[in-house]
Amino acid sequence: MDIVTKIKEWDRLRDDPSLRGKTIGFVPTMGAIHKGHLSLVRRCVEENDLTVVSIFVNPTQFNDPSDLESYPRNFEADRTILEKAGTDYIFLPKYGELYPNGYRYKVIETDFSKKLCGAYRPGHFDGVLTIVMKLLNIIRAHRAYFGEKDYQQYQLIKGMAKAFFLKTEIVPCPIVREADGLACSSRNMLLSPEERKTAPLFHKFLATDLPDDKIRKKLESAGFTVDYIETIGTRRYGAVRLGEVRLIDNINLENE
Ligand code: PAF
Repeated sequence: MDIVTKIKEWDRLRDDPSLRGKTIGFVPTMGAIHKGHLSLVRRCVEENDLTVVSIFVNPTQFNDPSDLESYPRNFEADRTILEKAGTDYIFLPKYGELYPNGYRYKVIETDFSKKLCGAYRPGHFDGVLTIVMKLLNIIRAHRAYFGEKDYQQYQLIKGMAKAFFLKTEIVPCPIVREADGLACSSRNMLLSPEERKTAPLFHKFLATDLPDDKIRKKLESAGFTVDYIETIGTRRYGAVRLGEVRLIDNINLENE
């Protein structure tokens, strides 16, 4: 497994004649690799000749500086796990490499990105769409893999790829859960032992057939601060906080 930090270096590898006819799969991450990421990487390895994983904690998608600061980072552990899973390249750029003009140019979606998480984290999806557009243009993969835990993010990225005629296929991957139902997330490692015990109730209540407002009340009684519980179409979305840690999840009501 090789680590690439510069776009020029990746361009040389990507355009090498030995890659002609080979498929490239891409998994963008912010590091702190967990079982959810691993399911994306494994699928990517299965479906493509080469797998590229990016690690970049993207500052433009954090509306809260303390959230950016406390976001877990553990490159050495990530490197070992990714290598074992069959990753060929880690793309590990610095801020200046990806934002040569600072944050002057952005990708903005004007409708769905303002709802759900977008209503509570202003500018979050502008940052996500901007960095994903940059990464997709740099890596030039055949397929890119995104977890359904961030279902709103997945829908917006899929929409952006369609709107801008991007050549990379956007592949959704099912949520991976801990044995107690908690959706795997890099943020889970920030929970205190007490909070970790309470956290699985989020998924448990979300998956009941109660209406959204009743679920909100049950979560609040259990000690969560609720940003939103909202059903749109056949999917119920939720975002909650336990102490300083924000968790999101969603349920496809057709499967429950
Ligand atoms: O889902 C994430 O980890 C991030 O939002 C992504 C897609 C890597 C963009 O920074």
